[in-house]
Amino acid sequence: MKTSARKNVLSKSKWLKTKDILKDPKVRKLVPETRRMNEKLLREMLRRYSMVYIKPEKGTYGKGVMRVEQGNGSYSYQRKEKKRMFDSFSSMYQSIVRNKRKRPYLVQKGIHLLKYKGRRFDIRVMVQRNRKRAWEMTGMIGRVAHPRKIVTNYHSGGKPTAVRTLLKPIVSGENLFKIEKTLSKVGYDAAKALSHTNPELDMVGADIGLDNRLRPWIIELNTNPDPYFFRHLADKSIARKVLSYARALKRIPPAKSKPKRYSNRSLSRNT
Ligand SMILES: Nc1ncnc2c1ncn2[C@@H]1O[C@H](COP(=O)(O)OP(=O)(O)O)[C@@H](O)[C@H]1O
Ligand SMILES: [Mg+2]
Repeated sequence: MKTSARKNVLSKSKWLKTKDILKDPKVRKLVPETRRMNEKLLREMLRRYSMVYIKPEKGTYGKGVMRVEQGNGSYSYQRKEKKRMFDSFSSMYQSIVRNKRKRPYLVQKGIHLLKYKGRRFDIRVMVQRNRKRAWEMTGMIGRVAHPRKIVTNYHSGGKPTAVRTLLKPIVSGENLFKIEKTLSKVGYDAAKALSHTNPELDMVGADIGLDNRLRPWIIELNTNPDPYFFRHLADKSIARKVLSYARALKRIPPAKSKPKRYSNRSLSRNT
């Protein structure tokens, strides 16, 4: 049945979705190394990358996400606004375990995200199936992290911002266009790859980060992305498109026809 099949993919853990897209060689290169976390793996990945993100396998809204760092002989991690420092890996790990409680976690290579006015940002790229069931990139929107936080999610204080606004201080006009094209292609390729193992999938919200060399990284693929989020953009045509596709996919209720409103002037003219 269609609805139960959709439920399966919607409830897939970040781990299963990651394993699915790693099967595609083109997409694989854009996924930061991701593992199921245990003490040994966190230690190894930290040694390799100096900075990693750890997150619940089944989290949303940036909840439970932590940024872990290793300097020369010092260890630290940040969750929400609080950064904690330690002088050994094991004392840090004990503290992390208390914070993560019993939830299974993933470790992921940390991406040094580009910043806008000193705040990290990433990009949500919406990819939806069209009426011919083909994938199409329908809209993208930047999300700027709260100045003291390590996640960009709206529910964690992130600010929705047009991608152009974020990239303008960094690149010139022609390159801006190129980056937008790349982001769109990465979202499209990722959605397509995920749908190979999940054919019933019809919307993907890809969280894509850019590092300081402007390389795109697939941070997460959301299989139940919020189409209304695009309403934050001043350019209303983007939300209109995303919402019309979502409506066609029956992911949101049909649009209500607007009740007729008469301005005072037309009222007086009519009477
Ligand atoms: N590997 C990473 N490198 C840099 N930032 C990351 C990384 N993983 C997560 N983040 C930041 O944390 C946010 C939330 O992580 P995400 O994996 O999307 O989980 P959630 O399901 O809670 O949104 C991301 O949008 C990004 O801002
Ligand atoms: Mg996310």
